[in-house]
Amino acid sequence: MDWGMKNRFARIVKSEDGRAVMLAVDHGYFLGPTGGLEEPRKTIEPLLPYADSVMLTRGVLRTSVDPNSSVPVVLRVSGGTSILQDLSNEDITVSIEDVLRLNVSAMALSIFVGSEHERETLVSLSKLVDEGERYGIPVLAVTAVGKDMARDARYLSLACRIAAELGAHIVKTYYCEEFGKVVESCPVPVIVAGGKKIPELDALRLAANAIQGGAVGVDMGRNIFQSDSPVGMIRAVRAIVHEKASVEQAARIYESTKGPKARRAAG
Ligand code: 5RP
Repeated sequence: MDWGMKNRFARIVKSEDGRAVMLAVDHGYFLGPTGGLEEPRKTIEPLLPYADSVMLTRGVLRTSVDPNSSVPVVLRVSGGTSILQDLSNEDITVSIEDVLRLNVSAMALSIFVGSEHERETLVSLSKLVDEGERYGIPVLAVTAVGKDMARDARYLSLACRIAAELGAHIVKTYYCEEFGKVVESCPVPVIVAGGKKIPELDALRLAANAIQGGAVGVDMGRNIFQSDSPVGMIRAVRAIVHEKASVEQAARIYESTKGPKARRAAG
């Protein structure tokens, strides 16, 4: 890796411990105003102090994040579809000039292995890697799962390995049973997505198991911003990723930061 690439990569995966807490708030690019992200600035601002980096679109970056913020940006540069259509029909949606203008630390693009538009998304990844190598910007490949795909180790290993072979610098995927096999067969760092909202304790277990399985960190969205205590959740996840906290210790952090309203709702 050239200096610029290494330097940007180190903003995402911290060199002190080789770990990363990425806050994913890019969901609106195909989901629109999804639950918890209706007003992006309100959701994002209180969470940024606890995130190593934030993954979002250029629209939300420009409208909803203070340009004085020092949090590194992972820019979503693929899209072109909505939840109403075939999600695999994506293309690159941001020019490299705009990526440079926005001073981002990495670019993120989804690949849809096994879906109708598999080939186009893999070719897009390769083109993006060429641009990333030219300007020293790491590429995060998101192994998005098509409607009929199983999220198992066999499928996710296939998708992660292809992403790495095509030059992705870091791969984001889902947690699954035998997650260690996915990590072992992927020659670049793997970061785990949170997936759909599950109970907080389960989400913390997922994060801990993923780290145990060899993930460098988490790129978590819904399980943070749809929680009854988003700040509590990101702090708890952070403790697992960076401070070797157990699930029980992390759960205490989450519980202790819940506001009175959330505590009342939980009984
Ligand atoms: C969508 C994405 C999201 O960033 C990803 O799903 C992570 O968020 P969550 O933890 O909510 O799954 O890449 O394609």
